[in-house]
Amino acid sequence: MRDLDRLAAPGTPEREILDRLAPESLPRHIAIIMDGNGRWARQRGLPRVEGHRAGIRAVRESVEAAARLELEALTLYAFSTENWKRPRWEVRTLMALLKEYLAKELRTMVENNVRFRPIGRLGELETEIQDGLQRAVEATSSNTGLVFQIALNYSGRTELVDLMRAAALAGRDRSLLPDRIDEAWVAEHLVTAGLPDPDLLIRTSGELRISNFLLWQIAYAELHFTSVLWPDFTTRDLLLAVADYARRERRYGGVVEPGQDAADEATE
Ligand code: IPE
Ligand code: IPE
Ligand code: MG
Repeated sequence: MRDLDRLAAPGTPEREILDRLAPESLPRHIAIIMDGNGRWARQRGLPRVEGHRAGIRAVRESVEAAARLELEALTLYAFSTENWKRPRWEVRTLMALLKEYLAKELRTMVENNVRFRPIGRLGELETEIQDGLQRAVEATSSNTGLVFQIALNYSGRTELVDLMRAAALAGRDRSLLPDRIDEAWVAEHLVTAGLPDPDLLIRTSGELRISNFLLWQIAYAELHFTSVLWPDFTTRDLLLAVADYARRERRYGGVVEPGQDAADEATE
């Protein structure tokens, strides 16, 4: 049973959105490009890093909302392989905030039955961060609820490059033959292995681009763009995105009503 009262109390606008949603119309996996921290800070005359600090509340709230909606997975884009180009101070603060987040939020993750799964080239992060990530993975490994993936030093292209390298290596000693590579094989060897592809991809801050996120996995994702800046993103915004998703008609290249063919043939 979904934990609706804890997600949105009766009588609130959030609950109204929720009550209009059919359970079968919910996405199984939501991915979010959390963008706009810098602009949020600039609007307030603050340094960019204050936007990142403020964004933590939105992370906490989204993870909790996704857990209470009983989604299978939530994947948040926290740091891209391209984000190393940013000023050293900003990168250092982002890493410090990540450490703080891991230390503070572990308990909430355990309480919400969340399984934590960092994705990306984690070996290139500071050892202290790698240790913190590992601890969080271990502490939540027996949880059975939401899989919370956080993308760190991640990009869709590096993910595919790593996969191709692994395949080439396995091909060299013939432990992998070309015929075994199909779409299912690729999916099983991506960082999202074992999870459904994201049904819904949200990007905040009004930018209309993918910025190298989950390139393979979003082939058929529904896209939702909102102008809300990440530090202002709330459960209500998440529910609005889900409600928008629930109205979409997913076709996967097929036709909407399979029955229509028979009707067409009958009139020919
Ligand atoms: C998103 O906010 C956070 C990260 C990419 C780490 P930005 O820092 O990109 O904020 P804007 O886009 O400059 O406003
Ligand atoms: C995408 O945001 C990366 C993350 C949210 C971690 P960016 O702000 O880095 O993307 P661009 O530069 O606007 O494409
Ligand atoms: Mg940005």
